[in-house]
Amino acid sequence: MKHLKPLILFLLLTVTSVSYAQNSKTAKMNAYIKALMAKMTLDEKIGQLNLPSIGFDITGPILSQGVEGKIEKGLVGGVFNTYTPEAVRKLQDIAVKKSRLKIPLLFGYDVIHGHRTIFPIPLGLSASWDIPLIEKTARTAANEATADGLNWVFSPMVDIARDPRWGRVSEGAGEDTWLGSQIAAAMVHGYQGTDLNKNNTVLACVKHFALYGAIEAGRDYNMVDMSERKMFEVYLPPYKAAFDAGAGSAMSSFNEINGVPASGNKWLLTDLLRKQWGFKGMVATDYTAIMELMKHGVGDEPQVAALALKAGVDMDMVSEIYLAQLKKLVQSKKIDVFYVDQACRRVLEAKYKLDLFTDPYNRITNTRSAEMMSADKMALAQSAAQKSMVLLKNQQGVLPLKSNAKIAFIGPLVKDQRNLIGNWSGAGDWKQAISFWDAVQPQYPNNKFSYAKGCNLLDDTAMITKLNLNGADIVPDVKSPAKLIDEAVSVAKDADVVVAFLGESFMMTGEASSRSDISLPENQKTLLKALKATGKPVVLVLMNGRPLTLSWENENLDAILETWYAGTRAGNAIADVLFGKYNPSGKLTMTFPRNVGQIPIYYNAKNTGRPFDEKEKYTSKYLDVANTPLYPFGYGLSYSAFSYSPISLNKTNIAITDKLQATITITNIGNYAGEETAQLYTRQMIGSVTRPVKELKGFQKVFLKPGESKTITFTLTANDLKFYDINMKYTNEPGQYKIFIGTNSQDVMEADFKLRL
Ligand code: NOJ
Repeated sequence: MKHLKPLILFLLLTVTSVSYAQNSKTAKMNAYIKALMAKMTLDEKIGQLNLPSIGFDITGPILSQGVEGKIEKGLVGGVFNTYTPEAVRKLQDIAVKKSRLKIPLLFGYDVIHGHRTIFPIPLGLSASWDIPLIEKTARTAANEATADGLNWVFSPMVDIARDPRWGRVSEGAGEDTWLGSQIAAAMVHGYQGTDLNKNNTVLACVKHFALYGAIEAGRDYNMVDMSERKMFEVYLPPYKAAFDAGAGSAMSSFNEINGVPASGNKWLLTDLLRKQWGFKGMVATDYTAIMELMKHGVGDEPQVAALALKAGVDMDMVSEIYLAQLKKLVQSKKIDVFYVDQACRRVLEAKYKLDLFTDPYNRITNTRSAEMMSADKMALAQSAAQKSMVLLKNQQGVLPLKSNAKIAFIGPLVKDQRNLIGNWSGAGDWKQAISFWDAVQPQYPNNKFSYAKGCNLLDDTAMITKLNLNGADIVPDVKSPAKLIDEAVSVAKDADVVVAFLGESFMMTGEASSRSDISLPENQKTLLKALKATGKPVVLVLMNGRPLTLSWENENLDAILETWYAGTRAGNAIADVLFGKYNPSGKLTMTFPRNVGQIPIYYNAKNTGRPFDEKEKYTSKYLDVANTPLYPFGYGLSYSAFSYSPISLNKTNIAITDKLQATITITNIGNYAGEETAQLYTRQMIGSVTRPVKELKGFQKVFLKPGESKTITFTLTANDLKFYDINMKYTNEPGQYKIFIGTNSQDVMEADFKLRL
């Protein structure tokens, strides 16, 4: 007791001095920016709000023009799509040497899953359920991005996605709010590090704010119409988690929300984001989103400029409508200059936090090129790729492959490099990605491996034309499809086992790549049927960016390995997994439906008043397909198998201040050492509003040797059981709850407890 007083005093002093330091830092920044803004003309202030694209990529319909001249006139606050120290320096030189006030530029870029070293696509990375690993990939990306002159990344993308028709599900962490929130925070920490003024940190940009993942029918850029409850329960928490983790910027999304486009939505960008959540950073729009407000039909050019600015949009990405309209609007008193000042101040604050006013070149040096794709980063890419892969089926232990077996590797993706880094791999170079064939050959020099292409990635010429317009590089083989299949069948007949590498072209995923049919392309299915007819065991290795419908494949093939687009080291990681050097441990973060008619399908659904009962006609179901998915959320096999003991609880009746401890023993009952991700779900049985049948609340990873058991304990508090009650108050309700622990969202042990208030 007597030691307690000094300790409390010490803690109090520390907290006070930390907040004192924080306050004085903020006061210093405020004074600096106030002084700077006092010198700025209205044009220069508006210039800070302008965010054109210059350099390599475009992700929208128009290209920015005359950017260098505008920088010189102080009419640009930041640019994106320029990287490499040389290119960045050239533009920063103009800003700080030729513009009147020498205000440095922000340099943004779409660093999505790595910068030069490319990690698996985010949906794949999320399947690792490895939060420290994900944070490390973001940290690594920040190291490379800053070595390339960048100070701002348009990531993380934290849109919850329940509709696999949407091509952009590949860019996010899947369907779950809780897991998505952990990943969002980890990525922000990874990018921004502990202090944004260090030269290896970047400003994170949380996108797409908000609800972009809920676009109707999975068709890109479509509308969102959503209840307040669903927003707050399901879709908003990952954005909030990213802001709570300190993310310094946000990107407003393309979609409308209940009739009001996000990029002109005051409720979203000011009332919720700033007033309710306390966000102090900067908001930029997505590509030409202010211009698109006109097409949404909410105003002409001056009107949408005013709408966006007043709603809380600080930077105008590519539209240049702020540049064209704001001055006139201020001068004609249609908007108060207060709004321009407010937005300008937020942009300058971001620059201040990045320490650009002290040293505009702090991330622009030529001395860090050795950091790019260094050996440690490549090793991380390989390990991340291994951990992202999900074993969907493995009948009779056909995997791992025996390296002395006669193996036929068949398919257009066996030797492919082009697709491995996915559709949106920033500054990644696909030519540096290692194909499976190149990785596997040297490892097994005495192998009896054979190869046949078997089919083109696609035979659908209309689709090929569309994809090639955007760089898919699909070149149909000179041989006819029938000839390719014949060759594959004869190679397969001569083998002990057939491994088919198939999937989507990388261009069938990502932005503007929605699909209404999410099965494998027809020509690939024809090949699979021919391979199956040989009677040989067939393993399917998939590369794709979304859940696919794989009912036939699941029914007919012997094993299926989901590898996503696994990045720079994809080939090595696939070889490691196929031959058992790495025992697969990934678990799906998005439900795989049986067919598109089941969409949207997700694990944390509601029970309904007539839950499915096969003996009853009038229950919630389809006549032609089961309610259950093909592979549920959290699902993923191992070469081993894990058994779960019943759950033991420390209490079955907990008070609001209690800790509920749920203990379970997991045993490796198979023949391989491996990692299992034990998942914890809860269900509130009775609430003032209906509650999901399961909600993820935690997970733990255990590594077990064959025969080994480990006992793990999860701790839950009433806080974990809070939800939005009938009055939309985030609170606890007393009553009966269930707790589930298991290997996926369907296969679980369960126990009951009560919460009393
Ligand atoms: C459009 C995309 O929606 C967004 O994610 C991206 O950051 C911007 N373009 C900038 O390239």
